[in-house]
Parts: sequence; C-alpha cells; structure tokens
Amino acid sequence: MKRVLSGIQPSGQLTIGNYIGAMQNFVKLQHDHECFFMIVDLHAITVAQEPAALHEQSEQVAALYLAAGIDPNKAAIFMQSHVPQHAELGWLMTTISYMGELERMTQFKDKSEGKDSVGAGLFVYPALMAADILIYNADLIPVGDDQKQHLELTRDLANRFNHRFGDFFTVPQPYIPEVGARIMSLDDASKKMSKSSAVAGSLIALLDDPAVIRKKISRAKTDMEAVVKYDPINKPEISNLMSIYAHTSDLSIAEIEAKYDGQMYGPFKKDLAEQVASFIEPLQARYHEVRKSGELHDVLKSGAERAQAAAQQTLDEVKRRMGFVMPR
Ligand code: AMP
Ligand code: TRP
Repeated sequence: MKRVLSGIQPSGQLTIGNYIGAMQNFVKLQHDHECFFMIVDLHAITVAQEPAALHEQSEQVAALYLAAGIDPNKAAIFMQSHVPQHAELGWLMTTISYMGELERMTQFKDKSEGKDSVGAGLFVYPALMAADILIYNADLIPVGDDQKQHLELTRDLANRFNHRFGDFFTVPQPYIPEVGARIMSLDDASKKMSKSSAVAGSLIALLDDPAVIRKKISRAKTDMEAVVKYDPINKPEISNLMSIYAHTSDLSIAEIEAKYDGQMYGPFKKDLAEQVASFIEPLQARYHEVRKSGELHDVLKSGAERAQAAAQQTLDEVKRRMGFVMPR
C-alpha cells in the first residue's frame, strides 16, 4: 500500500479552502492508502501564536479531521509535537538545506514581507516539512497548490540525501486537485483564501455560523458581466465561487454552467449559499459531537503511537547512514 501524509497548521479557523484543497482528498485517499494526517503545531508556532488559541485551534483541527470523515481506524491522526522524531529529523534536514533555496520560498517571502524581525523558525520551516514527509517515506502528499514549491524542495532534499548517504528516502509526489487547488478570497480573487486573514468577509470558515456564511456569499465580489462561466483568468471571482459550488455538491463545473445559463448572479449565489450551508451543517454537527464525546485524546494517542513506531525506524536509519554513533 502506498503511503500518504499531510498536515494542516492550527494557526486559525480552518476554511473551506483547506477542505477543498486538502482535507477532502485526505478522506478520499484513506480507503486504499496507509495514511498519516497531522496537526502541524510545530509549524504553526513559526509565527507567534497566543498559547490558549494554539491549544484550542489544535483540538479544533483534530476534531474537524474526524468530522470530515477521516476514520482513525484507517488513518493515523496525531499532533506533530507528539512525535518528537519530526523535530529531530527536521534538524538533520536543515543541515542539508541551503540558505539560497530557503530564501526562494514564496511562503517565507509572503510571511516575512515588511516585518522588522522574522523568526528563524519561519525560515527553516520547509526543512521541517520535508522531515514530516520523509520520515514516513510517504509516496503521495495531498495539498493545495500553494504547497507545490515546498514539495519540490522536499524532493530536492530527498535526492540530495540519497546522493550523499545512499539511496534511502522515497521521493514524494504531490496530489493536488484539478479544480479548487487554490480557493481565492471572497473579497479579492488575486489572494488565496487564508485562515490567517484579518478580513472576516474574505473567508468561509468551516465553523462559521450558516447564517454568516450565507451573508458572506451574498457579499462576495463578482464581475459586472453577469454570466456564470468558468474562466479563472478573465472571471476569477465567479470561477472561484463555481469551484466552491462544484466541491460542495455533486455537480461538475460544466453542469453548473448549464444550470445557470442565461441567469444573473443572484440566483447562482443564493443556491451556492444554500449548498454550502447544507454541506457545512452536518459537518458542524459531527464536529460538536466529537468535541463532546471526549474521544479526541484517545484518537490522538493511538495515532501518535502508530506514527512514532514508523518514524523512529526511519530516524535510526538516517542517523546510522550519516555516521552517528548509535546507542548500544
Ligand atoms: P495551511 O492552512 O497553510 O496549514 O494549509 C493546509 C492545507 O490546506 C495545505 O495543503 C494547503 O495547500 C491547503 N490550503 C490552504 N488554503 C487553501 C486554499 N485557499 N485553497 C486550496 N487549498 C488551500
Ligand atoms: N506547510 C503546510 C501548509 O502550510 C503544512 C505542512 C507541514 C504539511 N508539514 C506538512 C503539508 C507535510 C503536507 C505535508 O499548509
């Protein structure tokens, strides 16, 4: 069975972009792959997090994994920080990473732009992400489009290690949705929808009240043409809304175009709002059940145990190959 690994940062409210770009594929891949799904808390702290918020958001992400349909009997669900091998391999990976390649990462450039003091952790973040992946010798990495560059670096680091220390790491492949790999902000289709955005109206949070979601969709920016047509270059706003529609219903983009042929944006947006609300309501109901049931911490414990066993094996072999004296 091929191995799948991914993670989401507990750095804010999860958005429908996280769901469409990543989580939806986690759920899909769990049936015929050996899966590891993390809450990447060590990554989240590369920008300052208020401790109480980090704690709550970490539990939220874990509960949303379950609510979205990830089955803990199939996939290992765990906190990155519960598997300390990640941080250790992360350090080893920083030593084979070059400053130049880290400086080229667009996520680093975006997050550090205009800041007086930029944390060193933010800079070496991609080396830790490479460790997350390589420590399980994962084959497939379901992520949104914005993570492509980090994955390319992971592949480079895997090849570099294999070249220096002998063929060992699996070189992973990204697994990115064809439509919806980058869900854009509702107020500005040139920016990706981001859980760390300061503009509430720019994002649909998975835990937003359905009434709020309806309002946000009705206010979402569109063009003046009033033609429901998928054309991400010339009509980025409506195309983005159509992606959201397609992923929260069983209609394809072509079927949505046909359904709203000759209609204005009003009816389209109204239906979209209902569609998203009816998709999110059962998800939220399951989320609240999970939080109430108290099952979360047992799930995380057994997930971490499974992950640790696999991770320790890799770490030992990496250290042996690099020349470390192993304890006897
Ligand atoms: P992050 O929120 O940065 O931890 O991202 C978690 C996962 O969700 C990654 O695989 C991202 O690529 C994906 N993701 C985040 N925002 C979006 C978005 N707006 N559209 C599509 N995928 C996204
Ligand atoms: N960097 C990813 C993001 O911002 C999160 C992440 C950390 C990740 N480690 C990972 C994603 C390993 C996939 C695999 O979204």
